[in-house]
Amino acid sequence: MATTASLIGKATQQSSSKAPGPDRRTSLKLLIELQQNPTETLQRLTEQYGGVVRLQPGLSRLWIISDPQYLQRPLYENAANYARAGLFRSLKPALGDGLMVSSNDDRDGLHELLSNAFQPRRLKQLSTTIQACVQWRAAHWLEQPATPHNLVTETQQLSLDILCQLLFGPESNSISRSIQPLLATAHRWMDSRSDQTLNSPGWLPTSHNRHLKAAMQQLDAILSASLEHARPRMRDADTLLELLVGLRAGGGGEPLSTATLLSELRGLLLLAQRNLASALFSSSWLLANDTSSQRVVGSEAATIAQRGDDDVTTQAAYSRMVVEESLRLYPPTWAFSRQTLADDMLGDYAISAGSLILIPNQLVHRNSSVWPEPSKFQPDRFSAVNRVNRQRGAWLPFGAGPMQCVGDQLSIAVLQLTIVHIAGIGNWQLENNDKPEMAANLVLEPATQVQASFSPQI
Ligand code: HEM
Repeated sequence: MATTASLIGKATQQSSSKAPGPDRRTSLKLLIELQQNPTETLQRLTEQYGGVVRLQPGLSRLWIISDPQYLQRPLYENAANYARAGLFRSLKPALGDGLMVSSNDDRDGLHELLSNAFQPRRLKQLSTTIQACVQWRAAHWLEQPATPHNLVTETQQLSLDILCQLLFGPESNSISRSIQPLLATAHRWMDSRSDQTLNSPGWLPTSHNRHLKAAMQQLDAILSASLEHARPRMRDADTLLELLVGLRAGGGGEPLSTATLLSELRGLLLLAQRNLASALFSSSWLLANDTSSQRVVGSEAATIAQRGDDDVTTQAAYSRMVVEESLRLYPPTWAFSRQTLADDMLGDYAISAGSLILIPNQLVHRNSSVWPEPSKFQPDRFSAVNRVNRQRGAWLPFGAGPMQCVGDQLSIAVLQLTIVHIAGIGNWQLENNDKPEMAANLVLEPATQVQASFSPQI
């Protein structure tokens, strides 16, 4: 979700902080490097200056924080003083006006309403829906077990199948076919904006912007028709769409407007889906690379198959730990940001109003003072015991505080159920075990194909 180019332009005022960081001239040079090669530059800066770095190019102030102790004020203790930075504003023509692009002052209880709606327990058919999607795709993988598939596209397609099925239910296939080219247009548009250092405004009638506008109008038309279709069945709440149209502000109040619902759906289909696809890829790849974890997930799948309908998310506890550890190593949203509204203190450092804070969660997750042997895949870090002792702010794949992702619990359940249902059918075998190169696009995504074959569980 982070576009460094759009982030950097937002820091506006000076403060008199003593935090470590380069001088003005070097800061300017580093800003350019940050835009060209964000993850490497962030890592280099953190290695050189530590968990708090302050850049001071010209009149702006940019803080880079990867030490959880300095995140306590902005994310928890004084969170109301830190707005979401203008990061997503430039993506509004694609994402609409939903929560993802909103700041502290225009949220109107929507965060709580959606957080409650997106709880996995509210979707009665969650596990069986995911199992059916997995079975359908695995049938294709098993047609020729020795033939390799591209794990990147397979996990992308599976996560889209699952999301569409959860949203639209039985209508899913035809809707998914008609929205896929529209989503592809929006992805291309969002990627081109996050790549560019200087963006023309999204409202300028360039052919690129016009193309996006037409695609988003078509997408809204399809989604509006689906919402109308879901309204009579809102009491059943069998699909996410039925659940959303049944929501009432403040309990028994007004239903959400169609415009609000359409914006949230756009965010879900355009950005949340891409996050899910990235996380499904990294969990599948890490699991394929670790036979002992693969065995435990396989045995959870066997127990679930024997027991039948019991609560699968509770039974697949280790699969959840695999997902959480994968999100630590490869957080799909590799950075997020905040902007200071009034002066504050971060530990000993003074931070002035208007400063921009960039939180590269990938570096937070690899901070060796919190995570021993940070590059190793060790799902046990997320066992009940280890979880209790973890410092607040050390694991941030979904952000934190009042603007934390409203789909966090649902995403974890979806990923957990997907990997355990895949393990119930078979295992991925990688053609080679080299670490995939990950590109810090709008979300963290594999930069190349990854070939793997799928063999049935014996
Ligand atoms: C692996 C999947 C996902 C990841 C990694 C992810 C990550 C994030 C992150 C990092 C944020 C920003 C949080 C912050 O600023 O503190 C966010 C916000 C948000 N996410 Fe997700 N997300 C995922 C899936 C979803 C899903 C499935 C939904 C919807 C069901 C969703 C809906 C939202 C919304 C509405 C916000 C804005 C929340 C607010 O500002 O109140 N996300 N997400």
